[in-house]
Amino acid sequence: MDKFIVKGPTPLKGNIPISGSKNAALPLLAAALLADEPVVLENVPRLQDIYTFNNVLRVVGAQVQFQDSENRVIIDPSNVNYLEAPYDLVRKMRASFYMLGALVGKHGYAKVSMPGGCAWGPRPVDLHLKGLEAMGISISLDKGYVIAKAGTSVPGGRYRLEPSSVGATINLLLAAVLRAESFTIENAAKEPDVVQLCKVLNSMGANISGVGSDTLTIKQVRTLSGGSFRNDPDRIEVGTFMIASAMLPGSSLRLIGCNAEHLGDFPNLLRQTGTKVDLDGEVISVQAPEILKPVSITTDIYPGFPTDLQAQWATMLTQAHGNSTVTDTVYFDRFSYVPELSRLGAQMKLAKNTVHIQGPNLLEGASVMSTDLRASVSLVLAGMAAKNTSEILRVYHLDRGYESLEDKLNAVGAKLSRAQE
Ligand code: UD1
Repeated sequence: MDKFIVKGPTPLKGNIPISGSKNAALPLLAAALLADEPVVLENVPRLQDIYTFNNVLRVVGAQVQFQDSENRVIIDPSNVNYLEAPYDLVRKMRASFYMLGALVGKHGYAKVSMPGGCAWGPRPVDLHLKGLEAMGISISLDKGYVIAKAGTSVPGGRYRLEPSSVGATINLLLAAVLRAESFTIENAAKEPDVVQLCKVLNSMGANISGVGSDTLTIKQVRTLSGGSFRNDPDRIEVGTFMIASAMLPGSSLRLIGCNAEHLGDFPNLLRQTGTKVDLDGEVISVQAPEILKPVSITTDIYPGFPTDLQAQWATMLTQAHGNSTVTDTVYFDRFSYVPELSRLGAQMKLAKNTVHIQGPNLLEGASVMSTDLRASVSLVLAGMAAKNTSEILRVYHLDRGYESLEDKLNAVGAKLSRAQE
């Protein structure tokens, strides 16, 4: 296993190119199965989760070519003949569960392993299954697998997601476009990843209305064509680097190739810390303040503060002058980074789904352990703020979600190296 060695403290100065979004690319890869022709996806990041999903597509018989030096994936779904996603692949990555909607949508049958637990607590899929049933698809469970069956058409109807769920909205869209006569999703997720999926499906010939709102209506079409589509930039990577620039004194970063419209309330919240944030087309410039002010946040669905940035924000708040809190209302247990940051000297206390931070903390290098994707990048942020050398174990979590992290950070002044544990 790999680990990172980080020497701090380091200010970051210069330009960082932003990669394509992992979470936005995964549903597009699944959507390619619905087409009758090859689908070409551009701006797909070279990340472990993408390689894993490509393998899931290959297992069912799709031809997948990842031209990774070009960040391009070409999927030919014409020979899909095995309608199962086995446990071995689904357990590696929950998003493999999108195969349920894609396979039953296109072929009328799917057998997909139930995803297991997750480092940040239980992550149910009940809404995915109830929504499919509401559409008229028959669902049964057999030895850890979900079996979905549908006739040539199912009636559809209406289904309200409570709470709003990105994954369930995606699975229901994938299932409905070719199968459901008319289906309405209420309280649908309107995260940019879902909006991009809807737009791509509509360009392929689907009939989805209400795109960008929380009510999506899907009317059945018989076929979808292929095409070439460009994946969105990674808004969580953008937010992570914005936080890095804000929390490391003397930093000034220009992030190239962003879509500021996908950041919701985030830039304004960062400005409240005293950080200078300038949004100029595809370029976002962020300059660290002299004194970072504490700004408490509560996660919410889009355009609220994303749960995927709360660990990084809490890490930044260890450098703010004053007390603050970070509350996660989307995932209550997503705080495994707290004891690790405490090892570096962070003054943090966890009470239910809120972490209380007493800043500013003088962080000092130590050995810490990555527990999940966003927790690991927070440890890198803390390591860059800490005095001396930190060692971050199990960075394979990071490799699932941040393309070329050490190259990008080292190019702007970080001192980060990879070694064997
Ligand atoms: C996706 C993202 C993840 C992000 C999350 C919230 C991907 C691959 N992952 O995860 O990075 O943190 O959105 O923005 O895109 N819920 C249920 N029943 C369900 C499904 C969800 O109760 O069947 C609940 C969850 O427990 C959670 C909330 O709904 O409290 C939102 O989860 P959801 O939006 O589904 O997250 P994911 O799609 O799994």
